[in-house]
Amino acid sequence: MSDIERTPVTVLGLGSMGRALAEAFLAAGHPTTVWNRTPGKAAPLVAAGATQAADIEQAVAASPLVVSVLTTFSATLQALGPASDVLSGRTLVTLNSGNPAGARAMADWAVARGARFLGGAIKDVPAAVGKPGTLLYFGGDRALYDEYESTLQVLGGHTVHLGPEPDLAALYESAVGATLLPALLGFFEGAAMITARGIKAADMVPYSVKWLQMIESILPVLADEIDNADYTRLGSSVGLFYEGLANEMANGADAGVDLSWHRPMNELLQRAMDAGYGQQSITALIELLRTPAPA
Ligand SMILES: NC(=O)c1ccc[n+]([C@@H]2O[C@H](COP(=O)([O-])OP(=O)(O)OC[C@H]3O[C@@H](n4cnc5c(N)ncnc54)[C@H](OP(=O)(O)O)[C@@H]3O)[C@@H](O)[C@H]2O)c1
Repeated sequence: MSDIERTPVTVLGLGSMGRALAEAFLAAGHPTTVWNRTPGKAAPLVAAGATQAADIEQAVAASPLVVSVLTTFSATLQALGPASDVLSGRTLVTLNSGNPAGARAMADWAVARGARFLGGAIKDVPAAVGKPGTLLYFGGDRALYDEYESTLQVLGGHTVHLGPEPDLAALYESAVGATLLPALLGFFEGAAMITARGIKAADMVPYSVKWLQMIESILPVLADEIDNADYTRLGSSVGLFYEGLANEMANGADAGVDLSWHRPMNELLQRAMDAGYGQQSITALIELLRTPAPA
């Protein structure tokens, strides 16, 4: 392993994710300094070869690359405050969740103190850290990303530079993550209907997986319609979904399942019908999402 691959690193935050990141750096042979607000959490990492910094200032000063994975951007700003004077010339990479405004504020703060900044996100669970397929993406200066790409790949083999803006990872995080709760709610609704009939939710899973694969297969078509504002290709119209949702609500009532979470979807489809999108692809809903209804 070359010296470049063994860049000294500091990991700030030793929760579930930070601990996994520090373990991966140690396993790859990087001199690794760790810091956590609750110092006792560093003990297993110190036993594995990490150096525990006495305070955040010492932690930041220890390495050219500082990877922070506290809960939020505001927690990170708060924790890094006492290290303001030693940030200059170092690279700060954040991997916490948060919104684009938080990432921009973080970047401005770090750059004002002479640091270089990459806003990142890790798109997997701690157990996946260090695996070849684990996805991490980053926004910020390309040259800076290139400089540290091989070091960051220790955390996951699938690293991506999204572009020069430091808030891009947070933006993608929100945009991609938006599917999660609605998709899970749909699964729970189906499970409530199935189990109300004495059938196990597990019996539904193979068909739900097929369904999700179908959704996966049409995403490029949906994206193409959105990018070209041409809502004619999918062959599944707003009107079709409008009728379908009414049927689903009747089925839910029949099965004794609470479908009140459908109401805003119903309202959105109604607005789309009223606006004349009935014959257009369901993708046309994006036109309404871009023009929020008055409160
Ligand atoms: N776990 C996952 O599956 C996962 C996956 C992808 C992304 N993430 C993201 O990674 C980040 C960390 O997640 P996690 O699972 O490691 O969380 P966690 O286990 O709850 O750990 C949170 C960490 O943040 C520290 N912290 C919180 N507030 C702080 C403050 N004001 N000052 C100093 N330290 C503070 C905690 O320190 P103490 O130990 O002193 O409390 C701890 O080190 C989050 O943004 C999360 O969304 C997590």
